[in-house]
Amino acid sequence: MDVDTKDGYTRRTVLVTSAAAPAADTAALANVTLRINGQPHPLTVDPRVTLLDLLREHLRLTGSKKGCDHGQCGACTVMVNGRRINSCLTLAVMHDGDEVTTIEGLGEPKKLHPMQAAFVKHDGYQCGYCTPGQICSAVGMLDEIRRGMPSHVTRDIAVHPLFSDEELRERMSGNICRCAGYPNIIAAIREVAGETS
Ligand code: FES
Ligand code: FES
Repeated sequence: MDVDTKDGYTRRTVLVTSAAAPAADTAALANVTLRINGQPHPLTVDPRVTLLDLLREHLRLTGSKKGCDHGQCGACTVMVNGRRINSCLTLAVMHDGDEVTTIEGLGEPKKLHPMQAAFVKHDGYQCGYCTPGQICSAVGMLDEIRRGMPSHVTRDIAVHPLFSDEELRERMSGNICRCAGYPNIIAAIREVAGETS
């Protein structure tokens, strides 16, 4: 008799069960198309995969960083349909048809986005781990002010908010820099915002 464990499983039982597992997983996959940095990407993804893991592990767009994987550090910030989000907190499958912009899509080494150029000019980084998230977040943050979105420190939400250090610090508070490069980060963002103080 082909029983080779004390629970009565046979070698054949184990092999058949193992072989069936991938088929069940395949049935759960989802087909989505994301536009990433201007290019359509038709993908078959596990619905549990986060947008951050899709970018980094599946598409090798490693500019977006994984710091906490819990929505607390901002290292994974990307733009989705023009708005900044933490890509570790959202599933890739939720973004079928969305336009995703990562740090790789903001600019190129020979044609930097103004925010990238300002970070270089003002030394807005040390180790650089938080930098892609800081830059994407800063671009999204200035756009939010331009569109009149209030923040926690906006005194009168009926009035279009103005750029200020207080607004900047509050709106960028979700992006942590462990190297504490904040003075230089602020200088870079101020320059792009057209502020000199
Ligand atoms: Fe997403 Fe930290 S890795 S917020
Ligand atoms: Fe090192 Fe910000 S530059 S974490």
